[in-house]
Amino acid sequence: MALLQKKDSFVSESINILVVGDIVGRAGRQALQNHIPRLVDHHLIDFIVANGENLASGRGVTPPTAKEMFKLGINVLTNGNHCWDQRDFLKQIDQDDRFVRPANFSSHAPGRGWTIQETAAGIPVAVINVIGQVFMGSWDSPYAAADQALQEIPRDVKIILLDMHAEASSEKMGMGWYLDGQVSFVYGTHTHIPTCDEIIHTSGTAYQTDIGMTGSYQSIIGNKIDPGLCRLVKGLPQRFEVVERGGSVFATLLKVDVNSGKTLEIKRIHIPPNS
Ligand SMILES: [Fe+2]
Ligand SMILES: [Fe+2]
Repeated sequence: MALLQKKDSFVSESINILVVGDIVGRAGRQALQNHIPRLVDHHLIDFIVANGENLASGRGVTPPTAKEMFKLGINVLTNGNHCWDQRDFLKQIDQDDRFVRPANFSSHAPGRGWTIQETAAGIPVAVINVIGQVFMGSWDSPYAAADQALQEIPRDVKIILLDMHAEASSEKMGMGWYLDGQVSFVYGTHTHIPTCDEIIHTSGTAYQTDIGMTGSYQSIIGNKIDPGLCRLVKGLPQRFEVVERGGSVFATLLKVDVNSGKTLEIKRIHIPPNS
């Protein structure tokens, strides 16, 4: 936790948060294993959130892959359209409140749409997860789900992050403006492609359309190139397999004021493979 000092008196406290997008397969997990310890030391990171929908060979979360990520220091794993690819996750999600899944899933879905976890210094951080409606399936309104989550999160929790797992950038930008002034960061996941539009609104809400995947970019959004091209060029069905080596880290670093929940600084991080 960083203290901002003005002359001789401490005027406010801030924490540093690392936001990681979709972690894709072994390439993504290995890249984080290689770089998270150094990033935490170098940037004095207090809290890490990542999207886990592609952790296990691109298809959902398994107990070993989740354990590997929590052991690295990831505080919360969000999810998305691949949430139920592993059947056992239907049970696992109920047993650990470090997992969240989109809040606008069916009301019958197990698990939770938001969680509150603490930094080592005891600062609470709320993480909300929603899924978009454009090219994503017929989910309930992510805007209504975000409203509901914000009503339920206790008022004394100032730092709030929202992962909007969605295809359409317009939908994600809409959420950024809809929650302007109410949360610390609205960010997108799912497309696996990072965007360079990070901004801090005058309200102190930060926004980025997509964090980008942590995984191999010698691929088509994480999958092997040849089967993808066969499907695209010839229109033939192919079994997709993720590329398991050569992962890049794409993540976004925030400095957030503990008392107001406003974001003070935002910075994208890119670590290429073999660095
Ligand atoms: Fe994904
Ligand atoms: Fe997705």
